[in-house]
Amino acid sequence: MAERHLLELTGLSKSFGGLACLSDLDLHVDEGEIVSVIGPNGAGKTTLFNVITGVYGPDDGEILLDGESIVGLEPHQVTNRGVARTFQTLRLFLNMTVRENVMAVQYGETKATVFESMFRLPRARREEREIRRRAEEKLSFFGQRLVGYRWDQPAYSLSYANRRRLEIARAMATEPRILLLDEPAAGMNPSETHEIAELIGKLREEGKYTILVIEHDMHVVEGISDRVVALDHGVKIAEGSFDEVATDPRVVEAYLGLRKAETK
Ligand SMILES: Nc1ncnc2c1ncn2[C@@H]1O[C@H](COP(=O)(O)OP(=O)(O)OP(=O)(O)O)[C@@H](O)[C@H]1O
Ligand SMILES: [Mg+2]
Repeated sequence: MAERHLLELTGLSKSFGGLACLSDLDLHVDEGEIVSVIGPNGAGKTTLFNVITGVYGPDDGEILLDGESIVGLEPHQVTNRGVARTFQTLRLFLNMTVRENVMAVQYGETKATVFESMFRLPRARREEREIRRRAEEKLSFFGQRLVGYRWDQPAYSLSYANRRRLEIARAMATEPRILLLDEPAAGMNPSETHEIAELIGKLREEGKYTILVIEHDMHVVEGISDRVVALDHGVKIAEGSFDEVATDPRVVEAYLGLRKAETK
């Protein structure tokens, strides 16, 4: 039997109004790997995440998480199976504190009844303590950037880069088996981008996370990826090491050429 991948997509297709956004896509991620998805704007990268996480059902194809199909599950069920994501456009609760933002994603897992929670009965209090502890543990991963005094401040007081870090902390708090990061370095300056690349490496080395990441910054992609998958118009046009993919003529034409033209 072929080896089992942690995440395995086969023949995945998704169209919107007759426009194919993903076509017959095969992709896998093994435990402990960092796989990057690249491709020009509109290539279907975010759609890929939306289909994996159950925001949209695929028109065709299979999605296996550790050998079990997750097709047809609701997004919260996919999260419970161990798939967490961040969003290209941030979805924080800006008026809640930093700590509360990370706590909020965990409430779906609590066992206490509304009655137990309202009257702060022992089980509800125990769960609350555990949720708080877990939130603080995840925030501690970001060291000086999201240090203790910030945990009680509203999320709107954070810099844009710290908001992106907070989004990652929220994804971590669901204790996923795989983290899907949608352009974690978007909108960051070069030094913040460099830090994010280091952070992603640390998530794998120390956090033992498996990561599928969409990223536009080629320095980040080069620095972090075990494998790179390039999409164009919903089709996989190349896959392999960074060097293999970055020098693939189809990728150069579809993506790198385009980026060069943009930065001129
Ligand atoms: N809900 C939707 N309804 C209709 N079309 C959609 C929907 N979601 C995505 N699309 C289309 O699918 C295509 C791929 O979009 P997607 O957001 O996946 O691209 P992307 O690779 O993430 O691009 P970017 O780099 O700009 O984030 C686009 O043509 C987009 O307009
Ligand atoms: Mg996108």
